[in-house]
Amino acid sequence: MALILGIESSCDETAVAVIDDHGTTLDTRVVAQRIASQDAAHRPYGGVVPEIAARAHAEVLAPMVADTLRDAGLTLDGLDAIAATAGPGLIGGVMVGLVTGKALAMAAGKPLIAVNHLEGHALSPRLADPSLAYPYLLLLVSGGHCQILEVRGLGDYRRLATTIDDALGEAFDKTAKILGLGYPGGPAVERMARAGDPRAVPLPRPLLGSAEPHFSFAGLKSAVLRAHDTGRHDAADLAAAFQQAAIDCVIDRTRMALRVTGPATALVVAGGVAANRALRGALETLGAEAGLRLVAPPPALCTDNAAMIGWAGAERHARGLHDALDVVARPRWPLDATAAPVRGAGVKA
Ligand code: KG4
Ligand code: ZN
Repeated sequence: MALILGIESSCDETAVAVIDDHGTTLDTRVVAQRIASQDAAHRPYGGVVPEIAARAHAEVLAPMVADTLRDAGLTLDGLDAIAATAGPGLIGGVMVGLVTGKALAMAAGKPLIAVNHLEGHALSPRLADPSLAYPYLLLLVSGGHCQILEVRGLGDYRRLATTIDDALGEAFDKTAKILGLGYPGGPAVERMARAGDPRAVPLPRPLLGSAEPHFSFAGLKSAVLRAHDTGRHDAADLAAAFQQAAIDCVIDRTRMALRVTGPATALVVAGGVAANRALRGALETLGAEAGLRLVAPPPALCTDNAAMIGWAGAERHARGLHDALDVVARPRWPLDATAAPVRGAGVKA
C-alpha cells in the first residue's frame, strides 16, 4: 500500500490531501483532505487575479499540509511520496505548490511526483469508481479547458477535440458576469437556470453538426450579451437558454467523438463543469444511446481538489514514475503533446 500527499494550487483553490491507494472506496482512499477557497478574495474583481491567488496560496499552504497530516494521523515519515501540481495553471500559484512539494520531499527523503493538473481531472473518475478501467472516452470540461480525450492508460492520452475559443466553464463564468450573478459563475448560472424557460430566448449552437468534434463558445456568449442588452429578457430565461444551448453543443460534439473513438469501457466526464446536474443528465442519456455507462465523479471531486492530484500521484508511484527535484512548473502542459493545433483556434486552445 502507498500513502501519497497531494498538493493543488494551480488556480484559486489551495488544497491538500492524503491518499491511500489500497482503499477500495472513495471514502477509504481519501484518508484526509482540506481545501481553502479564495472565492472571497477574487469576488470584487469578478475573476481570478493571479497575484492575489499566488500570495493566498503561499499564506495558507504550509499550515494546511500540517493540518491535513494531523487529520490523517501521519507525519511526513509515514508517507510514501509527495505529489504536487506542476501545471498547467497560473504560474505563481503552481510554483508555490510545487516548491512546497519539493521542500517536503527533500526534507523527508521521499520521492516527488510532478502531476499534470489535467491528468488529475482525467483520472479523478478512477479514484471515485474503482471499477472504471482503461480505456475510456473523457469529456474534460473546466474553467480553462474543454477537451475530449481517449484515456488509453496512465500517461497515454489522445486528444480528439478541443475548443477553438472559450472553455465551457469560461462561457458559464462570462454568462454569469453578463447576468450580474457574480463569481464563480457556473454554479450560479445552474441555480438561476432552474427557474427559467430555455425556449424563451433563441440562441445559436456554434459548430453543431460539424464533422470534427471541436467546440466553440465565444459566439454563444456574445449572443447572450446581445439578448441581455435588449432588456427584454428575464435573467432566469437567459441563464436557462444559455445552459441549454451549451449542453446541446456538448452533447452533439461528444456524440461525434463517440463515432471516431476507439474501444471504450465508459463515457466519463470530469472537471469543474462536470458538477453541473443538467449536463450530467444529458450525458447519461447520450451514454445510454451509445451503450456506454456514464461515470461522473461526485461534484466535490469535479472542481479543483487535491485528492485527484494525490490519486494521479498514486497511479504514477505504483509505476515507479517519480520526478527529479529540478522539475519545473509549466503554465502550459497539454495532455496530448502530439495533438495538432486546430484551425481557427486562438492561443488558448
Ligand atoms: O476544474 P475547475 O474547478 O478549475 C479549473 O481547472 O478550471 O473548474 C472551474 C470551472 C469554473 O468555470 C466554474 O464556473 C465551473 O467550473 N463550474 C460549473 C459548475 N460548477 C463549477 N459550471 C457549470 N455548472 C456548475 N455547477
Ligand atoms: Zn481544474
